[in-house]
Amino acid sequence: MSSGNHNDLHRRAFLRSGAAALGTAALLPSFHPSVFASLRPCVSPDRLEWWRHARFGLFIHWGLYSILAGEWGGRDDYAEWIRNSAHIPLGEYEKLLARFNPVKFDADAWAGMAEDAGMKYVTITTKHHDGFCLFDSKRTDFCVRSTPFKRDIMKEMAEATRRHGLRQCWYHSIMDWHHPDYLPRRDWEAATRPVGNASYPRYVEHLHGQVSELLTNYGDIGVMWFDGQWEETWTHEMGRALYAKCRALQPNVIVNNRVEGWSPVKIADPLGDFRTPEQEVPATGWPGVDWESCITMNRNWGYNAKDKDFKSVARLLGLLVETASKGGNLLLNVGPRADGTFPEESVERLREIGRWMRVNGGAIYGSTASPFKEAPFRATSQPNRLNLFVTAWSDALVLPGLRTPVTRAYLLADAARAPLSTRPTEGGVQVTLPPSPPDPVCSVIVCEFDRSPEVRP
Ligand code: GLC
Repeated sequence: MSSGNHNDLHRRAFLRSGAAALGTAALLPSFHPSVFASLRPCVSPDRLEWWRHARFGLFIHWGLYSILAGEWGGRDDYAEWIRNSAHIPLGEYEKLLARFNPVKFDADAWAGMAEDAGMKYVTITTKHHDGFCLFDSKRTDFCVRSTPFKRDIMKEMAEATRRHGLRQCWYHSIMDWHHPDYLPRRDWEAATRPVGNASYPRYVEHLHGQVSELLTNYGDIGVMWFDGQWEETWTHEMGRALYAKCRALQPNVIVNNRVEGWSPVKIADPLGDFRTPEQEVPATGWPGVDWESCITMNRNWGYNAKDKDFKSVARLLGLLVETASKGGNLLLNVGPRADGTFPEESVERLREIGRWMRVNGGAIYGSTASPFKEAPFRATSQPNRLNLFVTAWSDALVLPGLRTPVTRAYLLADAARAPLSTRPTEGGVQVTLPPSPPDPVCSVIVCEFDRSPEVRP
């Protein structure tokens, strides 16, 4: 992980522990639970249903940092954290406003690539830690309106994703290295950016204002994906108020767990509708908990011209199958160039993933976790059906501990659904496989049952 800094370990511990501080609770009126009561009429019974069914989304990290493409002061391993990691003075960084002009930006092309890849939602940075807003915010000039480009990128993305049948989701950073009222200051710029009469409550009011813009001006938003919540100024109470704000503006919006803030005491009911493991897939998933792994295609979230360390298509498909087989979602990241195009390596990988998903997506969408504890394959469950994802082909496959007879087995890639023979064995059920796999990377075998299959070692 190149773009983070010494905060990372601190932050990761926080993300894992879910601890938070209640320092400045007095600053904000605590919201009254009746806020939720009043929401009931228009809250759909299970807000997260579409999201759980989707299983796969596109993450986009884009902003002024994309112009620098990872380079500053002779180093070229930076990305979206470059302002902080390279200690770029604010005045210097603001000069990038005049250079942000992504003339090749085409929201339909981006939404089209996500749709073709089999993704069902798009989560894009509206504002990252550097404070630059890609939308036309009435609350700051440090936004796209002040660039030669001027066009509201959130507006164009929201319209394009809708045209492509995708859900629009917003990433929004709580941490803000630009806003005069955001505290704490970066330790390395304390001298050049003194606190002065900065007022954190005023920053929180600004944050609420921008979240209102994002949840009022662009239609239905699927997810508010907060980040940058780990600094001690952001408290649990503030997290609760922001969560309530989002749900008051859009009762069906889903909010991630990075809305949570600090608390001196262990939080009984951590905030957020789903967990967000980063650059990893939890070892055994989190049964009963909603989660989404966010993962880069190469090393960085933001664009780095030198970062060619792209994961292979097989690896990326493996991550998608692994998250689904453990009952979670995958949010796969692209860091576009400053001109508004996706790196070729990302375009290619989205295309190849789409080729596979057109044949095998049915085994991912609307699926739940595998019932197998140990097996030489990954699996997903659907009603009276198991999908087996095979990467190491052989002439037969044993489903360990399966106690329910298979009524029909076939290759998902086989439109004719030619039956594969199965027979019970000592250890479970054996499926005989054809000589060669339909897919060189990962082939899916479907097993159907006349009831919910029982797996018991
Ligand atoms: C890490 C990165 C941050 C990125 C986030 C996405 O926290 O430091 O820049 O936005 O991951 O999950």
